[in-house]
Amino acid sequence: MAAPVPQSLSAKFVGSFAYLTVKDRLPLILTRAIDTLHRHKYLFLEHHGEEGVEAEKQTISLLSKLLNELKTDKPVIPLTDKLCDTEQWNQYLERQQVLMGGDEKPSWFKSPWLYVECYMYRRIHEALQLNPPISSFDVFSEGKFKSFFDSQKAIILICTCIQDLSKNVENLDDGQLKEEFLKLFQVSLWGNRCDLSISSSEDNSQTSNPLDCLDSLKPFILIDDIESIWSILANSKRTRNDTTPKARVDIILDNAGFELITDLVLADFLLISGLATEIHFHGKNIPWFVSDSTYTDFKWTLRQLKAANHMGMSKCGVKWEDSIKSGVWVYHDDPFWTLPHEFCDMQQEAPNLYAELQKSNLIIFKGDLNYRKLTGDRQWEFTVSFHHALRGFHPAPFCILRTLKSDVQVGLKPGQGEELKATDVDWMTIGKYAVIQFDTPSM
Ligand code: F6P
Ligand code: MG
Repeated sequence: MAAPVPQSLSAKFVGSFAYLTVKDRLPLILTRAIDTLHRHKYLFLEHHGEEGVEAEKQTISLLSKLLNELKTDKPVIPLTDKLCDTEQWNQYLERQQVLMGGDEKPSWFKSPWLYVECYMYRRIHEALQLNPPISSFDVFSEGKFKSFFDSQKAIILICTCIQDLSKNVENLDDGQLKEEFLKLFQVSLWGNRCDLSISSSEDNSQTSNPLDCLDSLKPFILIDDIESIWSILANSKRTRNDTTPKARVDIILDNAGFELITDLVLADFLLISGLATEIHFHGKNIPWFVSDSTYTDFKWTLRQLKAANHMGMSKCGVKWEDSIKSGVWVYHDDPFWTLPHEFCDMQQEAPNLYAELQKSNLIIFKGDLNYRKLTGDRQWEFTVSFHHALRGFHPAPFCILRTLKSDVQVGLKPGQGEELKATDVDWMTIGKYAVIQFDTPSM
């Protein structure tokens, strides 16, 4: 008999992180989104005349209604827009209803946290979609821009680092190449500290030197499977030949701003070192969890780099735009990434995306939300194996680089979680600790 699957994290557990998020942090994020719309009233007037102002009013009224539903634990209601994923969202709601059984309806404080948190971002998107003149407005873009500009010094340092590396990568022996890989991989890991959702969209940028602090951060990596990841890449480079000339790495992006730059630098390194021959990025197709990267953010970032008044940055911008044009970098934004499903549902719900990921030599998932979706955001015992918690999601060898910002963690040694709790009560949610976890279909 299959082992039982633990319950989903949920705000119904009073005092839990999910409860505090639904009670305090989500209303704050929503209130800030409403305020942002208010502040842009004159921009809407300038661009769309009175129609723009009317759209702003209507959107604010829809978001205020949403805020009220959230605060008063009203039932989750179906979406009314007509986007490509509307049907899937509404079917998901029906399934939640069946799971609850009886007369109870899915609601903010009763349903799985993962579901209602994703739903809030989809409802924000719906409110804008229903008001066409301003529907492409991203209520979170100001914060994403700020995070980019506030991390300027750190961005210069890592752009300069990759520029220097590209000049002498050919002279590095295997050991040196590995050293550089380990460094940039960890920079990308810690880049995940910079997300705006955890801070309810308040400032959260990278101000210290991201390369200097790696040694002091090492003790905070609770699980470190980096050697297995290196082996996969080094092996694919060693065995590359005319019959298998390609090595594809997929990066499932998380936040825009500093984290995105760390991911692009890593992607650049994988190509110049020959560890990969093509990189596929996967971003969100709607504004998501405050700071997640959309295609607009991705393009904006490349443009900013290109136009920067710093040689290292602008060279990166030019090179990376060329990488997109020449097709060694490919950008995808499948709607599945902004559905509420656990990843074990991907093969059934998004078979094309699953098949696409199966072509990869290595998939790199970034961030806390991806970890929650990989493990189903459930109350797993800390010592359950990562492979088990994935519940059949094994498209290709993959890893996750994540700083801990929510209370789900698997794959720890017996007693490790308890020890951490004794030193740091909030160890799971403050972004101080991190994991690099690896899985392969044959494990
Ligand atoms: O509640 C904290 C939170 O909003 C989580 O919902 C989410 O997992 C995380 O922050 C976002 O982090 P990341 O950008 O690393 O996915
Ligand atoms: Mg994020």
